[in-house]
Order: sequence, then structure tokens, then C-alpha cells
Amino acid sequence: GCGGDDGDSGSGGGDGKLVLGFSQVGAESGWRTANTKSIQESAASAGVELKFSDAQGKQENQIKAIRNFITQRVDVIAFSPVVESGWDTVLKEAKDANIPVILTDRAVDSQDTSLYKTFIGSDFVLEGKKAGEWLVKDYTGKTDPVNIVELQGTPGAAPANDRKAGFADVIKADPKFKVVASQTGQFTRTDGKQVMETFLKAQPKIDVLYAHNDDMGLGAIEAIEAAGKKPGTDIKIITVDAVKDGMTALSEGKINYIVECSPLLGPQLMDLAKKVKAGETVPQRVLTEETTFTPEQAKAVLAERKY
Ligand code: AHR
Repeated sequence: GCGGDDGDSGSGGGDGKLVLGFSQVGAESGWRTANTKSIQESAASAGVELKFSDAQGKQENQIKAIRNFITQRVDVIAFSPVVESGWDTVLKEAKDANIPVILTDRAVDSQDTSLYKTFIGSDFVLEGKKAGEWLVKDYTGKTDPVNIVELQGTPGAAPANDRKAGFADVIKADPKFKVVASQTGQFTRTDGKQVMETFLKAQPKIDVLYAHNDDMGLGAIEAIEAAGKKPGTDIKIITVDAVKDGMTALSEGKINYIVECSPLLGPQLMDLAKKVKAGETVPQRVLTEETTFTPEQAKAVLAERKY
């Protein structure tokens, strides 16, 4: 009969290949490009047939892509949600079609956790906390006010919400830290540069820039240099990701500290997809292991940095 059977209903054909539909956020940053490459390469080496769809930063495109994957009856759907909210309806559709969903990199705020099998990715709140902890340590013993400007990621995205919250939570312990301006730079270099230009014009004194990713920090460095200031010295810079361009700027002293966020989620994602398809239980949350880098540490690993 048709419908209802949740057995071998994938569209993989006779060769038994697992078919994975993946909806990516877009190509906004170096991190994202590395993440896409990791997913594509590990699908190929794991013998997974990957149906890859780029949402170009739009939630409506992701919802469409997921609906297409359901219609095509892929074995597993994975996606990296552009924003946290608004997923319940389409996730219910996938569940009703008996197609398991794996959240990759970013979370959704759905209350019903049965709508997805697992969530693999970083702890973004912890990343924000690590950024704040470095700052607190760096200014130990000093009492003058520290004026901070913040470049936020895409509005509504989990890494933007969480990195802001984690950082704020740590620096609030000392009133000398003041976030004097905080705006989105959309996780892109172009917007990072543009928003930093407006910060520099509007703010008489900026001591620190906290950017939610390397790309915005790199854009901001251009704006800071164009304003005749020295990034890393006149304005201290903290970013998140640790992609090669960020690590290069860190090793040159233009960035002072980077909190790592690993984009290399592909191999674990393939592994989880296979387990989920086989009906094995998987942990609800799979955390990525990450570190932090000072300029010295960046110098030491730069040559081997793959992305
Ligand atoms: O979701 C991860 C974030 O998305 C990365 O930190 C950022 O660079 C990317 O755009």
C-alpha cells in the first residue's frame, strides 16, 4: 500500500544509499563556506547522496526546501536554521511524513523536542562567555570605564542571540564595562565594515569591539584603519569562529582574541544521519569541542589551519 510505512521508503533507489536533504543558511561568512565544504566532502566519503539547498539567508527558502525534501521522500532531513523561531509547522510536516530531522549548527526554539532527533553544534552561550571572560581578565586591576561596541550576527539567529547573552552575562559583574553601541552586521564583512564606520562616527571613545564572527571583525578592521586608528591596539578586538583570515589577523595583532566555533560538522552529521536512519537512538544534543586563541597561539597553528 502507499503511505504509512516508515520502513525503506527513501528515494535512494536500489543501491541502498542514504539520501540526505540539507538546507544551508547561505554563504554569508568564511565559516559558512567551510561548513558547506565539510558537509559536501563528508557526504561523498560516507557514500551519502546529498541533496544540498542554499537558502540565501531566507527562512521562507528553507521552509520550501524542507517541503521539497518531504515530497521527494529523502531518508533524513538536516538543516541549519537561519533564525530560531517559526519552525513548528514544517517540522510537524516532516514528523508526520516519518522523516527524521537533524538540527545542524543552530538551534530552533520549538518547545516540542520530538520534532527533531538530535542537534549537533556549538554552545553559543559559552562562546559569548569565553569572549567576556577574556575581556574581564584583560582589564583586571583597571577602574576606568571600558566602552564596548558590539557587532551582532543575523537578527534572530541562535548564534547572535546566544553570543550576545553569554557575553553580557559575564561583563555585567563589573559596571566599568559599558556596551555603548550594539547593532547587527549580518555576519558579513560588508556590513561589519559599514556599521563600524557609523560606530566610529557616533562614538567619541571606543575601547573594545566584540564581533559575533571573524568576518564582521575583519570588515570592521578596514573601517578602523580607514579612520586612522590601529586595530588591536587603539581598539581591542574580540571575535568568534577562528577561520583562516581571522587567525591571520589575530597573528598580526589586529585581533586580540578569537573564540573558536568549528564548522567541521560534516563527519559527525553523516554518522548521526546513518544512525537515525537505522533507527538507533542518538543523543538529543551533540556538542562540538572548541578552544580559544591568543595571537601567540594563532601563530603556532596558522600554517596548518585548513579553513
Ligand atoms: O551559526 C554559526 C555562525 O554562522 C558562524 O559563527 C558565523 O560566521 C556564521 O555565519
